[in-house]
Amino acid sequence: MEEIRGIWDSSRLTNMGPKHEKLRAQLKDYLQVEYLDLLTNGHMALEMTLQAMNLRGEVITTPFTFISTTHAIVRNGLEPVFCDIDPTDFTIDVTKLESLITDRTTAIVPVHVYGNVCQVEEIDRIAKKYGLKVLYDAAHAFGCTYKGMGVGNFGDASCFSFHATKVFNTVEGGAVSYHDLDLGMRIYQLKNFGILDEETVAGIGANAKMNEMCAAMGLCNLRRIDENINQRKMVVSWYRSYLENVPGLQLNPVQENVQTNYSYFPVVVDEKAFGSSRNEIMKALAMQDIYARKYFYPLANEVHCYKGRFNPDQTPVARHISRRVMTLPLYPDLQEEDVKQICEIILSCKK
Ligand SMILES: Cc1ncc(COP(=O)(O)O)c(C=O)c1O
Repeated sequence: MEEIRGIWDSSRLTNMGPKHEKLRAQLKDYLQVEYLDLLTNGHMALEMTLQAMNLRGEVITTPFTFISTTHAIVRNGLEPVFCDIDPTDFTIDVTKLESLITDRTTAIVPVHVYGNVCQVEEIDRIAKKYGLKVLYDAAHAFGCTYKGMGVGNFGDASCFSFHATKVFNTVEGGAVSYHDLDLGMRIYQLKNFGILDEETVAGIGANAKMNEMCAAMGLCNLRRIDENINQRKMVVSWYRSYLENVPGLQLNPVQENVQTNYSYFPVVVDEKAFGSSRNEIMKALAMQDIYARKYFYPLANEVHCYKGRFNPDQTPVARHISRRVMTLPLYPDLQEEDVKQICEIILSCKK
């Protein structure tokens, strides 16, 4: 309430007002990135950034993601080419990237899925070798670091989501971090209809500005972000203590050189070894009003609207994981006894 009171005093409700600018500066520091802009959501950050990159042709990406990643590529008139994923951390499999590059490839859009950081060094090497742009979908990776560096520093740009379900939220919101000031200027214009100045509309933009109410929410949430991430870390440690080393359950890896944000707790269920399937476990949980999510099923290359357009057989690892993975409830004030109960229900499905 205190934070939004200032909005009435300033009479600025949107259009890059003082809260927007304050949040932008604070997030730039928190994420340790060179430049940052705020947008209305993570999806528009992806769409506007791809548009600002002026790309043509094919974009290599992962099917193991929220559909937003693929839609942003397709809605820019670009052709997604799906690369399979690593079976342990679920990020794009860099050993398969080069074989997908053609003379039409112009960019790579990898996803730091679940806050697991992609193989940024290898992606950088490949991108440089072939002259490709790299846009990271960092929707899950708020506050993650690799070798002590904010994850938003890698590639040409990274897009974050501040949706209400994310580690850091502005109700709805998003951001893009980038290195090139010209790219940043184009994104800034595109998110405001392509307007350059009072009399000049320089680009075919949209409306993707973050408003002052959302920025105020962000300023509030940023004050408690470290505390929230630490609480999430605790919740994850409880899950691990109950589920680690259970035959048939594959847990999210602890990545070397990565400081994660504990945004998701995915579990991959091998029915043969565990005795019950992912779906059976989810049903048992739902009977007790506990809702795990099938993140990510179906894959982006097999959803209804893309039927017949892509071939999910070409990403067999992603398909395998997608049929077996569930993400368990995870939020800062989830209590230890609730985690224990969730795990007991899961383990009661073991045969
Ligand atoms: C991987 C991924 N990309 C993009 C988005 C889109 O973000 P938003 O919901 O803020 O538009 C999300 C989340 O919603 C996501 O999980």
